[in-house]
Amino acid sequence: MILVPVWFFWDFCLCLDSDESCEGGSESSFKDALADGGSQKNNGSVPQKNGMKKHRESLPAPMFSRNSVSIWSILKKCIGLELSKITMPIVFNEPLSFLQRMTEYMEHTYLINRACSLSDPMQRMQTVAAFAVSAVASQWDRTGKPFNPLLGETYELIREEQGFRLISEQVSHHPPVSAFHAESLGGDFVFHGSIYPKLKFWGKSVEAEPKGTITLELLKHNEAYTWSNPYCCVHNIIMGKLWIEQRGKVEIVNYRTGDKCVLNFKPCGMFGKELHKVEGYIQDKSKKKHCIIYGKWTECLWSVDPQVYEAHKKLEKKGDKTLKNEENQGAENDDADDMPEVQETVSVIPGSTLLWRIDSRPPQSAMMYNFTNFAMSLNELDPGMEAVLAPTDSRFRPDIRAMENGNMNEASTEKERLEEKQRAARKERAKNDEEWSTRWFKLGTNTHTGSQDWLYTGGYFSRNYQNLPEIY
Ligand SMILES: *[C@@H]1O[C@H](CO)[C@@H](O)[C@H](O)[C@H]1NC(C)=O
Ligand SMILES: *[C@@H]1O[C@H](CO)[C@@H](O)[C@H](O)[C@H]1NC(C)=O
Repeated sequence: MILVPVWFFWDFCLCLDSDESCEGGSESSFKDALADGGSQKNNGSVPQKNGMKKHRESLPAPMFSRNSVSIWSILKKCIGLELSKITMPIVFNEPLSFLQRMTEYMEHTYLINRACSLSDPMQRMQTVAAFAVSAVASQWDRTGKPFNPLLGETYELIREEQGFRLISEQVSHHPPVSAFHAESLGGDFVFHGSIYPKLKFWGKSVEAEPKGTITLELLKHNEAYTWSNPYCCVHNIIMGKLWIEQRGKVEIVNYRTGDKCVLNFKPCGMFGKELHKVEGYIQDKSKKKHCIIYGKWTECLWSVDPQVYEAHKKLEKKGDKTLKNEENQGAENDDADDMPEVQETVSVIPGSTLLWRIDSRPPQSAMMYNFTNFAMSLNELDPGMEAVLAPTDSRFRPDIRAMENGNMNEASTEKERLEEKQRAARKERAKNDEEWSTRWFKLGTNTHTGSQDWLYTGGYFSRNYQNLPEIY
């Protein structure tokens, strides 16, 4: 995923959740960072109009500049210490819990609703493919690290205008596993999964394999689709400009029909020609190709007839021969791992159908962690909601709330307090030989894939919050 980016790398390479920590960021540069932001104060809540809830479109405070805090300076201070004992300063975070960030899958719920309304299974598969690609789009340029969910933390989101409700829970801390379950308010679909990222170091970059399956059930069609997210790679983790690449194969399977969509998130390559590109095809049970899918996960996705596509490629190849030489001249194979400059947009093959196009980000996005409109609203807490939400909801996290309001010192102190509290609770359980029990999800078998999965046990929305752990 998705959805599964940067933040986990941070935790991996710099282990935020260590039991002891060397508070890395140099004190003075952290203060400098504090000085250049946070003047604007307003909690961002918007009054309701016409009964339809209008969500806030910005955060209460702009973000602090990270420029003065280099990761290198933090690492230098900690030389000789174990990597697991380094804590990144909070200035590298974004004010969302990973549970909230995972919920950004739902930004393009209209695509699931569209898939439900289509009668042709091939068209449904195209729309599901668009949904799967659109789900990683919010990661574009989001290098802030979400807060690690605390064990037992939950997050709910109800969006009547988009027609769904979602509940998620942090079901394991080591390894970190986040489970979610969303359902349509009209009874059309169920969408669930769990994410457990596995990490690999490649020197200058870190790659996360987002383990865990995502399942989408279209109930009226009696269909289930499953897939997993592409690998997410973050470049220049030590020095230089951070940038994000999604790569690898994503296979979406329709269990009822046997149709399959294979999507290839391309590595960017030498000249950056493949940067952010996604290409793939849909085949039926007998492996006959029905359509070609292409686009960029940062922009848009198209589908086209395989024959039209092949004809177009042949034409392109003829034209390409003359271009080759020019390209080679520009090739400088230096050591940098910078994002290539070449960023031509998707060239549309005549006769293609648009499946999805990314929404532009709001104007204040650059000052606010590059959030999308959807992300801006995720930590919104109306006074009316306080009495309704479970006390474990991410919106009640004092560290995230403080950061959102621009109070970085308070955020930092609170984050440490919560982590300490979590460690103390773990030690207490160990002493008493108690096992942690999850509340809304149980480990079971995904009936479609036959593998182990975290499944929702139901009942969250009857709002019986007895026996919830006190994690804040
Ligand atoms: C946000 O501000 C409004 C008006 O100043 C106030 O009525 C409301 O209670 C505040 N909400 C929160 C969540 O602090
Ligand atoms: C937001 O995007 C810009 C433009 O690509 C980038 O330079 C910046 O580092 C990003 N900010 C964050 C917090 O990721």
